[in-house]
Amino acid sequence: MTPGPAPGDWWRHGVLYQVYPRSFQDSNGDGVGDLAGITSRLDHLNDGTPDSLGIDGIWLSPFYPSPMADFGYDVADYCDVDPRFGTLADFDELLGQAHERAIRVIVDLVPNHTSDEHPWFLEARASRDNPRRDWYVWADPAADGAPPNDWRSAFPAVGRAWTLDRRTDQYYLHSFTREQPDLNWWNPGVRRAFEQILRFWLDRGVDGFRIDVAHRTVKPRELHGHIPVENIPGVLDLMPPADEPELHALLRSWRALLDEYDDRMAVGEVFLFDPARLVSFYGSANDELHLAFNFSFLRAPWSAEAFRRVVATFERLLPKGAWPDYTLSNHDNSRAVSRYAPDGDLERGRKRARMAALMLLTLRGTPFLYYGEEIGMADGPIPPERVVDVGGRDSERTPMQWDASRNGGFSTADPWLPASPEASSVNVEAQRADPDSMLSLYRRLIWSRRSRAALQSGTYRELPGMPADCFGYVREAGTERALVCLNFGSKPIRIPEEELTGAGLGDQLRVISTGAGREGPARGAIELEPDEGVLVEPSTRPEPLAEERARG
Ligand code: GLC
Repeated sequence: MTPGPAPGDWWRHGVLYQVYPRSFQDSNGDGVGDLAGITSRLDHLNDGTPDSLGIDGIWLSPFYPSPMADFGYDVADYCDVDPRFGTLADFDELLGQAHERAIRVIVDLVPNHTSDEHPWFLEARASRDNPRRDWYVWADPAADGAPPNDWRSAFPAVGRAWTLDRRTDQYYLHSFTREQPDLNWWNPGVRRAFEQILRFWLDRGVDGFRIDVAHRTVKPRELHGHIPVENIPGVLDLMPPADEPELHALLRSWRALLDEYDDRMAVGEVFLFDPARLVSFYGSANDELHLAFNFSFLRAPWSAEAFRRVVATFERLLPKGAWPDYTLSNHDNSRAVSRYAPDGDLERGRKRARMAALMLLTLRGTPFLYYGEEIGMADGPIPPERVVDVGGRDSERTPMQWDASRNGGFSTADPWLPASPEASSVNVEAQRADPDSMLSLYRRLIWSRRSRAALQSGTYRELPGMPADCFGYVREAGTERALVCLNFGSKPIRIPEEELTGAGLGDQLRVISTGAGREGPARGAIELEPDEGVLVEPSTRPEPLAEERARG
């Protein structure tokens, strides 16, 4: 039996991995990734042995029929597969093959808006009295013909969140591109339609959903010019706000629906940087989202105090029984290696990304990885003539780097986004056998986590008395303990032996380090280089976790 989280706990104690289908693996030579391509790469993700990454679940970004104005986040049919990605049979094959490897699969649910080519919108815009008209958000022009209020799209390049539909002479609302009209969640027909969509995928066997724009889906019933004040700098402040009570009621109804099935979950994109509001999306009785994405690390400056505070705040505010989660990258943000690179110095960016990975995989909470993170992919350079995304996010979506062959082994054809020139050296094949590679570090950390209750489910306690540039903590379950120290500073730091013995780890210790050549038994004090992190744990192989014994 492969060690790993038990059923029921898989989304709490497992490691989740985001696949952006367009960019993972092309199987039919059209330059766009597809479902069969993902299936062919599942062994990299988890083949049941520590030679593979060892993740427990994948989140698939949208693969539904779409005109691709927002690369799939503009859905034209929620219950099918875009021919570019394959067929429903390919989806079933992927799901079956994933489940055989104990990999759970969650799919992206996009309820805030549809594509403007979705049949619902085609009907809605046909006339003012069409029965589907009220499925979207319409408003009359102001007296001078201007949009009804000053709400803005999330994308600065799009400008206003309103577009005039000339045929019916009303504006429709779009929080994102013009091709993504917002749905009207006050309409009961919309609610019923989405319940059917949820059931369609749950009945097919998916393990849950990532809910797009979960924090904004229900708009205020009455449109007004009010500008919501949120903790998000810049143009996003002017986005259409949510009716929060109604939004929470909607999330509760979806939770009840999920609870009718075994062992399913929902993680919401809650793009809010006010932690008190973020945790409200778990529900006051833990009856809304299973997990609300905590994006705080994406904005945290590189300092021990900033990272420590993100964790301390989340730990303090989470309602009883709610479970944390963390992430370093996704398809909407610059990749960690590039973000952490001071003055574009990718070598240091990678050193820091290794330390951030050690943190992510040892914190109390579900880690979400982004494809390519495990090999330290950086943002890919995009020449101006190859730019395709209106939101400026192409660099973090370049093809997965599998090997040194053409296009990084992603496709035999010219890919939809250029493969990074780094693909010839930064790739899975090159890192597989190198014990010092980023991939080997991720594998070691994930497989260590899989076998230790302290890391999977243990308590979290900050280590007091750490030097200012150091973030340190202890994880503990029963008699098993593990200690983590992360040096965010630019000078070496020494962790005295007493600190290690004081943490009660036992005396046979081993170290997993993000620096090269330091792995192995721990003896005496530990010196941490700048941007180096260590996990110190008992060197004895743990007993199989109780839940593993029960399963196996
Ligand atoms: C979410 C997605 C992003 C998309 C937007 C509109 O933020 O993560 O990629 O553009 O929603 O669907």
